[in-house]
Amino acid sequence: MASTISFIITSLLYLTTTLVTTFTTPSHAQYSIGVNWGTSSSHPLPPDKVVPLLKSNNITKVKLFDADPLVLQSLSASGIDVVVGVPNSMLRNLSSSKRVAESWVHDNLTRFVANVGDGGVRIEGSVLGFWQLTVELLNYHRRYIAVGDEPFLQNYGEQFKPFVLGAVTNIQMALIKAKLESKSPFYANIYPFLSIHQNKNITLDFALFKPTVHALKDGRKTYKNSFDLSFDTLVTALSRAGFPDMEIVVGQIGWPTDGAVNATSNIAQHFMEGLMEHLQSKAGSPLRPGRSPTAYIFSLLDEDLRSITTGNFERHWGVFTFDGQAKYQLNLGQSKRNLVNAQNVEYFPARWCVVNNNKDLGNVTASAHDACSVADCSALSPGGSCANISWPGNISYAFNSYYQQHDQSADACNFGGLGLLTTVDPSVDNCRFAIQLRTSSSTALKWTLVSWWRLLCLWMLLFGHIVFPTHRTS
Ligand SMILES: *[C@@H]1O[C@H](CO)[C@@H](O)[C@H](O)[C@H]1NC(C)=O
Ligand SMILES: *[C@@H]1O[C@H](CO)[C@@H](O)[C@H](O)[C@H]1NC(C)=O
Ligand SMILES: *[C@@H]1O[C@H](CO)[C@@H](O)[C@H](O)[C@H]1NC(C)=O
Ligand SMILES: *[C@@H]1O[C@H](CO)[C@@H](O)[C@H](O)[C@H]1NC(C)=O
Ligand SMILES: *[C@@H]1O[C@H](CO)[C@@H](O)[C@H](O)[C@H]1NC(C)=O
Ligand SMILES: *[C@@H]1O[C@H](CO)[C@@H](O)[C@H](O)[C@H]1NC(C)=O
Ligand SMILES: *[C@@H]1O[C@H](CO)[C@@H](O)[C@H](O)[C@H]1NC(C)=O
Ligand SMILES: *[C@@H]1O[C@H](CO)[C@@H](O)[C@H](O)[C@H]1NC(C)=O
Repeated sequence: MASTISFIITSLLYLTTTLVTTFTTPSHAQYSIGVNWGTSSSHPLPPDKVVPLLKSNNITKVKLFDADPLVLQSLSASGIDVVVGVPNSMLRNLSSSKRVAESWVHDNLTRFVANVGDGGVRIEGSVLGFWQLTVELLNYHRRYIAVGDEPFLQNYGEQFKPFVLGAVTNIQMALIKAKLESKSPFYANIYPFLSIHQNKNITLDFALFKPTVHALKDGRKTYKNSFDLSFDTLVTALSRAGFPDMEIVVGQIGWPTDGAVNATSNIAQHFMEGLMEHLQSKAGSPLRPGRSPTAYIFSLLDEDLRSITTGNFERHWGVFTFDGQAKYQLNLGQSKRNLVNAQNVEYFPARWCVVNNNKDLGNVTASAHDACSVADCSALSPGGSCANISWPGNISYAFNSYYQQHDQSADACNFGGLGLLTTVDPSVDNCRFAIQLRTSSSTALKWTLVSWWRLLCLWMLLFGHIVFPTHRTS
C-alpha cells in the first residue's frame, strides 16, 4: 500500500518565506478529517494501541506535535498520513546550522519516509511547530483578546523569535536537499469553545451549529455559526496579506468535556456532530462557499500533563478518554459506524488511595494542595465532573490522582499518614476515580516541556506578530 507521510511547516514566517510557492497553486483537494495525537500524558496510551485505534475508526490523517521516533515508527507502515511539528526548543539549533537542520531532516523524516518502501511519498510541506495562527483568540471585531501573562511573554518571547526565520530557511533547504518536495497550506486553529467566553455575541447555540440560531451579520456576509465566522476572519486576513487563494487547513478544532462550565460530553457531542455535518455538506463559508477545509480534530485523547494556564478544560479535549474509550458517539464521516474503543488496554490493579476519615483531618488541605500541584485535579474545578463531590471526597480525589500518577507506589499514598488504600472504587456518578495505564512514565518530563513551549509560542504569536485590522460590524 502506498503510504503517505506529509510534513508541514506551520509557521507565521512562512507567509514571508515558503508560502510564496503555495499561494500560486491553491489546492482544491477534497476535504478530509484527521486527528491531533498529543502525548502530554503521565501515562500515554502506547503507540501499539493508538495505531489500531486510529485504523479501526478509519482515521487516515494524524497530526503530531513533534517527531517522536516511537510514534513515527508505529505509523510508518500504517497507511496513515502524518503531519509533524518541530518543537520550539529546537528552533535555536536549527536556525544556527544547516548541518543540524540536515541531520534533523535525516534522523526524523527521511529515515521514516524510507521505511515506507515503495516511493509513494508525498511531502506537502516542511516543518516548524506551533507557530500556528490561532483564530480562536480573535473576537468578532477582529481584535486580539489578551490571554496569559505579558511580563512572562516579554521575558521568554524574545528567546525564540530570532531563530524562527533561520530555522525555516534551513529546514526548507535540508528538505530540498533530501529531495522531499515542499508545499504548505496555512494551518489555523479554531476554538468556538473559547469564543463563547470572549464574545457575548457568540452564544452557545451559535457555536454548536444550531439551525435555529439568530444569525450574525458581518459587513455584507451573514453567519449562522461561529466556525464560519472564525474561518472567514482568517480568509480576510490572508487576503489582505496578499494570499487570497491560500489553502487553509484547520489544524485544531474540538470541544472539551470536563474542567469548566459547558465543557461536557453531551455538549461536545453536539458540537462535533454539527461540525461533521457542516463539513460533509461542503456548504463552505460565505467567503469560501462550496468546499470544506481539511480539519484535524483536537484531540484524539485526554492528556493529564497539558498546561492548565488557560483553563482546567485543557486536559479534556479528547474525543476519547486518556485510555482510548469513546466519550460519546460520533460519525466521523467515513462510515455510519459508531466509534470503536482501544482494545487490550493494560491498567494498574484495581486499587485506589483515599483519605482516612478516622484520622484528624485538620491539616489535610495542605496535603491535597500538594497532591494537586503535581497530579491532575482539573475535574474538581467549577463545572467539572467532580465539582460536586463534597469534602473530604474531593481530598480523596486529589490523593488518588497523585497515587495513580505515581504508578501506585506505596509511598505515594502516605500524605502524612492521612492516606488509605482501598479496593472499593470510590467513583461517584460522573466523577471517575481513574486507574492509570501500565506504561513507562519516563517520558513525562519531556512532554511537560513540550507543552510549555507550545504555550509560550501561542503568546508570542498573539503579542508579537500579526496585527489584524479592526473591523466594525454594521
Ligand atoms: C543544541 O545544541 C547544543 C550544542 O550542540 C546542545 O548541547 C543542545 O542539547 C542542543 N539543543 C537541543 C534542544 O537539541
Ligand atoms: C530528531 O533528530 C535529532 C538529531 O538531529 C535528534 O536529536 C532528535 O532526538 C530527533 N527527534 C526529535 C523528536 O526531534
Ligand atoms: C455585539 O453585537 C452588538 C449589536 O450588533 C454590538 O453593538 C456589539 O458591539 C457586539 N459586541 C461584541 C463584543 O462583538
Ligand atoms: C453555558 O451555556 C449556557 C447556555 O446553555 C449559557 O447561558 C452560559 O452563559 C454558558 N456559561 C459559560 C460559562 O460559558
Ligand atoms: C473507511 O473509509 C473509506 C472511505 O472514506 C470507505 O470506503 C470505507 O468503507 C471505510 N471503512 C470502514 C470500515 O468504515
Ligand atoms: C497541623 O500542623 C501544625 C503545624 O505544622 C501542627 O502543629 C499540628 O500539630 C498539625 N495538626 C495535626 C492534627 O496534624
Ligand atoms: C453540581 O451541582 C449543581 C448545583 O446543584 C448542578 O447545577 C450541576 O449540574 C451539578 N454538576 C454535576 C456535574 O453534577
Ligand atoms: C474540597 O472542598 C472543600 C469544601 O468545599 C474546599 O474548601 C477545598 O478547597 C476542596 N479541596 C480541593 C482539593 O478541591
